[in-house]
Amino acid sequence: MTVWRAPGRINVVGEHTDYNDGFVLPFALEVGCTATVEDATEDWSVRSAQQDEPVVVRRGGLAGAGEVPEWSRYVLGALWLLTDRGVDVPPLEVVVDADVPTGAGLSSSAALVCSVAGALDDHLGLGLDDDALFALTRDVENDAVGAPTGGMDQLVSLRGREGHVLLCDMRDHTTTLVPLDLAAAGLALLVVDTRAPHRHSDGEYGARRRGCEEAARLLGVPALRDVSSDDLDDALGRLEDDEHRRYVRHVVTENARVLEVSRHLEAGRVGDTGPLLTASHASMRDDFRITVPEVDTAVEALLASGALGARMTGGGFGGCVIGLVPEDGVDAAADGVRRAFSDAGFGEPDWFTATPQAGARRL
Ligand code: GLA
Repeated sequence: MTVWRAPGRINVVGEHTDYNDGFVLPFALEVGCTATVEDATEDWSVRSAQQDEPVVVRRGGLAGAGEVPEWSRYVLGALWLLTDRGVDVPPLEVVVDADVPTGAGLSSSAALVCSVAGALDDHLGLGLDDDALFALTRDVENDAVGAPTGGMDQLVSLRGREGHVLLCDMRDHTTTLVPLDLAAAGLALLVVDTRAPHRHSDGEYGARRRGCEEAARLLGVPALRDVSSDDLDDALGRLEDDEHRRYVRHVVTENARVLEVSRHLEAGRVGDTGPLLTASHASMRDDFRITVPEVDTAVEALLASGALGARMTGGGFGGCVIGLVPEDGVDAAADGVRRAFSDAGFGEPDWFTATPQAGARRL
């Protein structure tokens, strides 16, 4: 029996930059998913502590991918892809148990797939190196589940480290650990789950990705990562479509913000990152247009309640907001959001504070 745990994540800054070969700065959370892999006598069976029905499929059977529930595809997808790549995967029972809230934009799916992939690699003695394990988890989500995501969530779920954010270059997937000691700075990172229902998030995510790729093609660069801050005005002048211009401006300025936040953190200037986080939110709201009233309200309420900076985190259209707040101002900031939500007629938000935790590991 092999047991692995992998975490969910929040992203400090760098949204929708990963699939543009750019930079992101996430950290691993305490909440996550635990996967247990055991030998079985026949078939592959998958159970989740959060689901009523187990899913059993014929070993090696690739058919029926569309017929199994979506959550199980994150598990079976790893078994299918390994088989497809020539691994003789034996009969197995895989049990998963997660405490990442689903639909909150905290990457419950990365926690699931990374815990399963780590446990399978270990249990079957595959000896996958860091890059191969990451590629497997990303391929499960992109190819087996069919979500066109950019890889940030899996990368940090695998490689996160306690006390550090992970500066990821999403072109070559190299990662650099950057220290983040919130307590030493007298600060806390408040995570507000707006509980806003994700509206059209799948279709809108794919549309943003296609729009960015089209803009890169029109500009004649491999990816928007290749447009530098110095080249931005020139690039904007060469694009006719306002949507393309807004996407390019978001991605180019967001990449610059990731590197600047990272430099501040390296130097221990945690508080100085606040205005950059807030600028990131404005860019997501006005240029990339992926926010919703609940997240904008949460950001405004956090700033009005003493946060040094605040922004939506994750793919958008709902989900969570982070606020960098003085350690002794956490309750006041959370109260501020609660009041603003009640005034606006929104449902009750949830909140917690987060510090960087370890990535995937054997238990
Ligand atoms: C989701 C995706 C990531 C990334 C973010 C936005 O979390 O899974 O790959 O694109 O949205 O930054």
